[in-house]
Amino acid sequence: MSAVEQERPHAGDEDYDGAEVAGDVLIRFDGVHKSFGPKRILVDMDLAIVKGENFTVMGPSGTGKSVMLRHVVGLLKADQGKVTVDGNDMSTVRREPLRELRSRMGYVFQEAALLNWLSAGDNVALPLRETTDMPEDEIVDRVHEKLALVHVPDTYDKMPSELSGGMKKRVGLARGLITDPEIILYDEPTAGLDPEISSSINHLIREISDRLSVTSLTVTHHMGTVKTVADRVGLLDGGRLHFVSGPEEFLNSTEPRLVRFLGDRLD
Ligand SMILES: Nc1ncnc2c1ncn2[C@@H]1O[C@H](COP(=O)(O)OP(=O)(O)O)[C@@H](O)[C@H]1O
Ligand SMILES: [Mg+2]
Repeated sequence: MSAVEQERPHAGDEDYDGAEVAGDVLIRFDGVHKSFGPKRILVDMDLAIVKGENFTVMGPSGTGKSVMLRHVVGLLKADQGKVTVDGNDMSTVRREPLRELRSRMGYVFQEAALLNWLSAGDNVALPLRETTDMPEDEIVDRVHEKLALVHVPDTYDKMPSELSGGMKKRVGLARGLITDPEIILYDEPTAGLDPEISSSINHLIREISDRLSVTSLTVTHHMGTVKTVADRVGLLDGGRLHFVSGPEEFLNSTEPRLVRFLGDRLD
C-alpha cells in the first residue's frame, strides 16, 4: 500500500467517502467538483457504487443531491474530476454510447413528472418509444407487465389527473423500469407522500432491487427509505459524503453532526 493510500480515510472515519469497496464498480465519482457561479455544490466528491448495490444519500435540502444524480446520467458535467458509469466518463462520452448508457439507466424523478396529456400507459411507454424500435404490441405487453410489478395493474388507460399521489408515484416508477435498466436513480422517491404510502413505496423499491438485481442510487430525506432500501448510506454535507456506512450504523451513529441532522428529520 502506498503512503497516499494509507492516508485515505477508512470506514467509520467521518471523512470516509465510500470510495473503496470490493466488487465491480458501476458508478464512480472521482474527485468531482461542481459549482454554479460562486456556489460550490460538489467539492472533491468520491464515491464508488458496486454492481448490485443500493446506495442511499441523505442530506438537507439544496445540498446537491439532485445535482449528483444529474451527473450520473450526463445531464450535468463535472467542473473537475469525473463521473464514470461502467467505465465511461460521462462528461466526454460521445452521443451514441451516451444514448446506449442512458438506455441502461432508469431515472425516477422527484415529482412523478407524468405528462398530463398522456394516459398512464402512454407515459410508461414513452422511454421505449423514444429509445428503441420495439414493435407496438411488445411495448403494450411490457407496459402492462411493469404496471403489474408496481401493483397498479388497472391504471393503463387512466389519465394522471385520475390517479392519487401514491399511484402517480408508482406509475413514475414503472416508467423508470420500462427499459429494464441495470441502474436506477431515485430522486426523493417518498417526498410529499404520507407515511403509509412512503413505506409501501420503500418496500416496492427494495422488492424491485431484489427481484431485478439492479444497482441503485437513491437520494432521500427519509430515514424510512434508508432503513428499507439502503445497503450503504452517506450524508451529503459541504459538497461531499460523510459517515458512509451500513444503514444501521448510520442511523444509530452518535456522531454529533449526524445526530443533529437525523434529529431534524420528521420521520
Ligand atoms: N442548473 C442549475 N443552475 C444553477 N444552480 C443550480 C442548478 N441546479 C441546482 N442548482 C443549485 O444547486 C444547489 C443544489 O441543488 P439540488 O441538487 O437540486 O439540491 P437537493 O439536495 O435539494 O436535491 C441548489 O442551491 C440549487 O439552487
Ligand atoms: Mg433534489
